[in-house]
Amino acid sequence: MRAWRVHELGHPSTSLVLEDIPSPEPPAGQARIRVEATNVNFADILVCQGVYQDRPGVPLTPGTEACGVVQAVGEGVELAIGTRVAAMTNMKHGGYGEASLIKAESALVMPDDLDPADATVLYSTFQTAHVGLFHRCRVEAGQWVLVLGASSGVGAAAVQLAAERGARVIATAGGPERLAHCRELGAEIVVDSRGENAADDLYAATMEATSGVGVDAAFDPVGGPLGTVTRRLMAFEGRLVVIGFASGDIPTYPGNHILVKNYAVLGMAWAEYTTRLRSVIEAAHKDILELHRVGRIRTDVTKVPLDDVPAALAALEARTVTGRLVMVP
Ligand SMILES: NC(=O)c1ccc[n+]([C@@H]2O[C@H](COP(=O)([O-])OP(=O)(O)OC[C@H]3O[C@@H](n4cnc5c(N)ncnc54)[C@H](OP(=O)(O)O)[C@@H]3O)[C@@H](O)[C@H]2O)c1
Repeated sequence: MRAWRVHELGHPSTSLVLEDIPSPEPPAGQARIRVEATNVNFADILVCQGVYQDRPGVPLTPGTEACGVVQAVGEGVELAIGTRVAAMTNMKHGGYGEASLIKAESALVMPDDLDPADATVLYSTFQTAHVGLFHRCRVEAGQWVLVLGASSGVGAAAVQLAAERGARVIATAGGPERLAHCRELGAEIVVDSRGENAADDLYAATMEATSGVGVDAAFDPVGGPLGTVTRRLMAFEGRLVVIGFASGDIPTYPGNHILVKNYAVLGMAWAEYTTRLRSVIEAAHKDILELHRVGRIRTDVTKVPLDDVPAALAALEARTVTGRLVMVP
């Protein structure tokens, strides 16, 4: 089978090599899938460089989550051969190949009539937004929700899910086109993340929209100056969920500020739910599939072939992607 491999850790532009390798055999608790689609994630860039939290060692095939058809199962795995699933890969034989090893406990069964590229996005991207907004932040209709990084990835999913639930969304994104896209997804107020005074602009726009009250919930996959100002935008008993640090800069949340302003800062590592609280993701899965089936949410997928994985990762790094890139071999 063909797969992208990293033998020496480094930037994906130099470390990725396309090779022909034998299909890997699944060990206990894992399954091999014939890859139909793999999400192109920012994390893959970090995996290639060996600076992501999971460090499986080289050689490795990146690609953290994939959708495909089960071909073989390891000991203790109850998935039937031929079932279509989306799942977290084992990171060693990830999704950027014609076959991948997945962690069986993370698998969610996907309908056969769903486009596999859509299925990968409805898996962890929409799941992260759903669990972050509704399980962690308890977002309800009528509440104000701030979403950072809202034109792509988990942010775009969060805008749609929050708006669909009847919440009022304030969104940040870089440049006029991406801001227009956020409006299409359901954002009421948009703020340019690449403006010279983006953090001040976000503060002013949010306070104006909420009459000085602040937001009931904030969803932050970005961090940096926008993430830092977000804590000052939380309403009484607001909930701020920390999703990631696409900016590379991790905000801090002083305890005295949290106390006197009476808000909560919540962590959310979605993959943990696959093993520790699976009922949460199963309920979200049902809701997400139904919203997609009836056309209330969209995945905004751009498909890229296996050969173009390095170019796709470069586009992600350059912040030129709107929506989701998905590799389809
Ligand atoms: N907690 C979890 O379980 C979980 C799950 C999935 C993802 N994540 C994390 O969430 C973050 C976003 O993931 P994603 O898949 O949504 O990524 P993505 O599609 O690349 O989106 C990241 C967004 O962040 C914004 N951004 C702001 N400053 C940036 C900078 N300096 N460099 C790059 N982007 C910047 C960009 O929007 P503008 O340029 O338009 O502002 C971009 O649209 C990542 O850190 C990822 O690891 C966490």
